Amino acid sequence: MKSEPTRVLVVGCGDLGRRVAALHRGRGDAVIGLVRGGDSAARLESAGVAPLVADLDATLPALPTRGAFVYYFAPPPETGIVDPRVGRFLHATRRDGPPARLVYVSTTGVYGDCGGAWVDETWPARPAVDRARRRWDAECRLREWAGADGGDLVILRVAGIYGPGRLPLGRLRQGLPMVAPEEAPWTNRIHADDLATVCVAAMDRAPAGALYNASDGCPGNMADYFNRVADLAGLPRAPVVRLAEADGRLSAGLLSYLQESRRLSNRRMLEELGVRLRYPTLDQGLPASLAAETTG
Ligand SMILES: NC(=O)c1ccc[n+]([C@@H]2O[C@H](COP(=O)([O-])OP(=O)(O)OC[C@H]3O[C@@H](n4cnc5c(N)ncnc54)[C@H](OP(=O)(O)O)[C@@H]3O)[C@@H](O)[C@H]2O)c1
Repeated sequence: MKSEPTRVLVVGCGDLGRRVAALHRGRGDAVIGLVRGGDSAARLESAGVAPLVADLDATLPALPTRGAFVYYFAPPPETGIVDPRVGRFLHATRRDGPPARLVYVSTTGVYGDCGGAWVDETWPARPAVDRARRRWDAECRLREWAGADGGDLVILRVAGIYGPGRLPLGRLRQGLPMVAPEEAPWTNRIHADDLATVCVAAMDRAPAGALYNASDGCPGNMADYFNRVADLAGLPRAPVVRLAEADGRLSAGLLSYLQESRRLSNRRMLEELGVRLRYPTLDQGLPASLAAETTG
């Protein structure tokens, strides 16, 4: 879709945003990263990204949205069932000018529990917990903007992101429990660097209005994932708790993840975006992540 160097705005320029920014900077694009805090701004500056400090929970200053290639990576608030942050951002785009394209990172939680079925983008969204309802609200607001304002929108429904700095090492070191593999659901992952590549490919090549699952296409068992990380890191495996006795021993957040099982198809992402994953399975991604964790 684009061949000229251009202006990129990353709204919510944290871990994923910095990876996407690095890809754009590598081809000469100017990148602005919107963050909330001074520390995050300093981190962006040292990475060659122009920081813009603003709070999506408050009235927004003028934003450089007009004609920009915008990635929206800020999460919804932590409570409630709606995402007023996206609402405020869209209000700003109406005031400050429409982006050339907006790529939004949603989550696969919007599908709800799928009983372990293979799930492609035609699967109906049935968000079952507030965390997923907030994401669904964000998606709906964005689709409404695309329809009513003619906005160019691409949505990625992203699986669990892993990579250096994003492994459950702290949990394992603390000896926090996990259910046994027999009671654990299917889970889906994508390496953070591969996700950054997918985001840029969506900006470059997706048809307007497209929706993609973003995952490595190799679903696995959630408890196995924790055990594999423990084994590779040389840490003790998590003690096993039975699901029926997990209330109060596992966090409410983890319990809600344990109640949803699905296997994500990434066929559309691979075929339409032409992405070649660097880490198509955990066999490649986990050792690389741990090595980068140790050296970085
Ligand atoms: N974790 C997963 O496995 C997973 C899976 C699917 C999707 N996702 C989603 O993927 C997206 C990117 O993830 P990530 O790892 O890059 O997240 P991250 O490192 O936590 O970055 C989020 C960014 O959003 C900014 N932000 C948060 N609230 C804000 C507000 N009220 N106003 C302005 N900026 C705000 C933060 O700014 P500060 O740094 O200043 O706080 C930060 O730069 C998130 O929406 C995440 O929920 C995550």
